[in-house]
Amino acid sequence: MSLKSIDDLFLHGVKDLFYAEKKLVQTLPKMAKKATSTELKQAIEQHLGETQDQVERLERIFVLLDETPRGKKCPAMDGLIEEGKEIMEEAEDDDVLDAGMLAAAQAVEHYEIARYGTLIAWGEELGMSEAVQLLKESLKEEKNADKLLSSLAEGNLNRKAA
Ligand SMILES: [Fe+2]
Repeated sequence: MSLKSIDDLFLHGVKDLFYAEKKLVQTLPKMAKKATSTELKQAIEQHLGETQDQVERLERIFVLLDETPRGKKCPAMDGLIEEGKEIMEEAEDDDVLDAGMLAAAQAVEHYEIARYGTLIAWGEELGMSEAVQLLKESLKEEKNADKLLSSLAEGNLNRKAA
């Protein structure tokens, strides 16, 4: 895919996020299953539902762009998930596992927040108000998920692991 304009970058970013969100739809249930803290399990399950909505929003953006919904391999998301997997395999204690997974989930949220933020800025520049609206809805969910994870970390999760 050659990138010659902001339009190209925008489409590239949508494809990247589409791949990333779909990958998360596969990964979050595995994380929820492994989590021992009920709160963490619930937070992950709640975000799974939101992530499915985010995939649908991206599909709608593909339609707005007159493009077939197709992801583009996102090595960043693959790497973040890979790191999360390592922690899940190597943690020797339930509390350590939870704290490690929480950190991995939060890294994923921060990545997505960065990507959605950029796409919103480009979309605004391109005058794509409908797509921007959809992206803003997803960004709001990501930020809320991040806040929820922070409150769990600041609550007892990290302390229990220490
Ligand atoms: Fe997401």
